[in-house]
Amino acid sequence: MAHHDPLIAQDIKAYLEVQERKSFLRVFTCGSVDDGKSTLIGRLLYDSKLIYEDQMAAIERDSKASGTTGEKPDLALLVDGLAAEREQGITIDVAYRFFSTDKRKFIIADTPGHVQYTRNMATGASTADVAILLIDARYGVMEQTRRHAFIASLLGIPQVVVAVNKMDLVGFDQSKFNEIDVAFRDFAKNLNFTDIMTIPVSALDGDNVTTKSDVAPWYKGPSLLEFLEEVEVDRQSLETPFRLPVQWVNRPNLDFRGFSGTIASGTISKGDEIMAMPSGKRSRVKDIVLYKESLDHARMDQAVTITLEDEIDISRGDMICTPDHPNEVADQFQAHLIWMDDTRLFPGRQYIIRTANMSVAGSVTALKHRIDVADFSEAAAKTLELNEIGVVTLSLTKPIPFDSYLNNRTTGAFVVVDRMSNRTVGAGTIDFALRRSKNIVRQDFTVDHTARAEQKGQKPATLWFTGLSGSGKSTIANHVDQILFERGHHTYTLDGDNIRHGLNRDLGFTKEDRVENIRRIGEVSRLMNNAGLIVMCSFISPYRAERQMVRSKAGDGVFVEVFVDTPLSVAEERDVKGLYKRARSGEIKNFTGIDSEYQPPRNPEIHIKTVETSAEAAAAQIVDYLEAKGFLTIDL
Ligand code: ADX
Repeated sequence: MAHHDPLIAQDIKAYLEVQERKSFLRVFTCGSVDDGKSTLIGRLLYDSKLIYEDQMAAIERDSKASGTTGEKPDLALLVDGLAAEREQGITIDVAYRFFSTDKRKFIIADTPGHVQYTRNMATGASTADVAILLIDARYGVMEQTRRHAFIASLLGIPQVVVAVNKMDLVGFDQSKFNEIDVAFRDFAKNLNFTDIMTIPVSALDGDNVTTKSDVAPWYKGPSLLEFLEEVEVDRQSLETPFRLPVQWVNRPNLDFRGFSGTIASGTISKGDEIMAMPSGKRSRVKDIVLYKESLDHARMDQAVTITLEDEIDISRGDMICTPDHPNEVADQFQAHLIWMDDTRLFPGRQYIIRTANMSVAGSVTALKHRIDVADFSEAAAKTLELNEIGVVTLSLTKPIPFDSYLNNRTTGAFVVVDRMSNRTVGAGTIDFALRRSKNIVRQDFTVDHTARAEQKGQKPATLWFTGLSGSGKSTIANHVDQILFERGHHTYTLDGDNIRHGLNRDLGFTKEDRVENIRRIGEVSRLMNNAGLIVMCSFISPYRAERQMVRSKAGDGVFVEVFVDTPLSVAEERDVKGLYKRARSGEIKNFTGIDSEYQPPRNPEIHIKTVETSAEAAAAQIVDYLEAKGFLTIDL
């Protein structure tokens, strides 16, 4: 390595000790594709002499070959090696680069700057001390700059340093720099940064990156690296109350029961009293184990296993905290949400909400407003598109221990994962819990749903008929209903066309409305199941996610999916209601199968191919299934 610290050769132990004592700065970089971020990071690594010699030789060779930077080494090549890794799928979200100077150690979270990559920004940012924001001197503050600054502030990064790059291309013009400085400060005065620094640089030539340059004598401030070396770090987290999100319960044998996780904030010592949330049970710390070593104290960021003096019940997803300031526990929140997927947010749809140590199903029950990053104005919105930010009500299926993000950047953050694709589609910060969840307590009635079902001599079911318009869902559901009714069963049918005249008359056929349509029907059907009924639901219900949601809400063994499989050509040929014709002529928009998607079930309980099976035969097949599965226990 080209790091020439004489201590390495003379006294390796002393060298390591010096390294150990240096303070740590976590830096987060963001900028648009062409702002020169790779070159800037490359320059920092290069000038701080932390590049492997073989790496350097390769860069010099490649730079000459590519010829983009003349005689100068193309430092972007150093960082852009990443691009190739990314293509091979090696680097996942954020790449971390470590380097150190005599004064400090640095971790730089390097994230791709393209507009699509807000996601990576959010994952790299949450623990950073400083954000470096790159601005191209030729273009000034752009929408992208505002968005990145807003997100950095939302994620609680206390300080921002604006590197106004490519100053060489504007002749190190002071007025140009001042203009950008003023514009950025004016914009950022509404954000929560404790400190803003702007520095004119040329990453390509190295001006004001690691050392002060004399090309801009009017600039009196520090170089970027000098600034990073000196900047005061506000490590609140050590003073913030102790939190250990329990990632797993470590039980190698009967004598040992430890709770493992990475300490999110604060410190802990042997003998300290702790409280486990959500149970609220207390105990004391018996031991703190790091690898195989027993520690007296541990602090934020250390991955430890804690054992307790008492046998109290703690599982993955719980939080061990200090009893003086325990976590709150709730299942409904107000939160800020950054949407990161090409497919927009569907309020009402069930997603997986992932916190530091658990995953729980939940949905956005209300989108309060969307925030315009240009002027922070709030606008009413029905959805969030890629990169949009909004304030939402989040409702989880289970209470979780948490802090507000303002108080704790780890236990107050979450990501949103799509249930079907498993992609991270959003990231959010918890503002506060909505107390509603505590004020509305479910009433327990003396006559419960089991009693109601027994009285009716049947097991409640939601028979969910899904398929294209005109596939025959209603006809088959109607036959089933008739057979069951004649046999003395208690049934009811919910049907798209009917429900849309009453309960759902406010809904149309956009994606959002269809999601809401199915959510409501799912709720109604569940109520009817609780009343002991077998319910036939016949809705196109084109999306797997919503059918899955109804299935999981209905509970095990209640939901029976019936795929009424009719090819589009056949349904269109039948065109019972004349709707396909109107859809083809463009008179009806968003028509399923024509200009709106239908996602067929992958594993329906019952699959009916209507081309081969008559409606009567299909109904008989369904009744047989119900009988075989014990839904019709007492045949009256
Ligand atoms: S769903 O997609 O939200 O599940 P639902 O089953 O309630 O739809 O309603 C579908 C019925 O509405 C169709 O059978 C048809 O009669 C009528 N309809 C009117 N416009 C449309 C449309 N654009 N797409 C599908 N169905 C439509």
